[in-house]
Amino acid sequence: AGNVTFTMIKPDAVQDNHIGGITKMMEEAGFRVVALKKTRLTEERAGQFYEVHKERPFYGDLVKYMSSGPIVAMILEKDNAVLDFRTLIGATNPAQAAEGTIRKIYAKSVEANAVHGSDSDENAQIEGDFFFGADERF
Ligand code: CMP
Repeated sequence: AGNVTFTMIKPDAVQDNHIGGITKMMEEAGFRVVALKKTRLTEERAGQFYEVHKERPFYGDLVKYMSSGPIVAMILEKDNAVLDFRTLIGATNPAQAAEGTIRKIYAKSVEANAVHGSDSDENAQIEGDFFFGADERF
């Protein structure tokens, strides 16, 4: 279905007490929380999650960063969820993120960019399944 996306609030934003502020922006933009948990990825699990990027020069640092502290994982529901969520969070590099986007407000760098958002319906399913069982979705 094209009506859900997957997001993580990344370690720096969790560390800086922005779980509430970021989630509020998501809810106010019309996203409904289907599933939510605070957890910490091991390096191995972070490496699996970002496997698609394993040939990229930033992969090693990304895996270390994403396992450096707890994250908040969520499945979010809304019409046109994947594309509308990417609009809400803004460009990967916060220097290029539009005014009013989550990354413009909360991101520190291209790596510590506050949130992850799925880039396709297929990846939204894969990434949601990586964190949540059927009994954790409401
Ligand atoms: P995310 O949307 O989670 O997907 C891959 C992540 O890699 C990205 O956000 C950034 O946190 C990180 N990253 C670090 N450097 C780069 C880069 N040069 N280009 C894209 N992503 C990067």
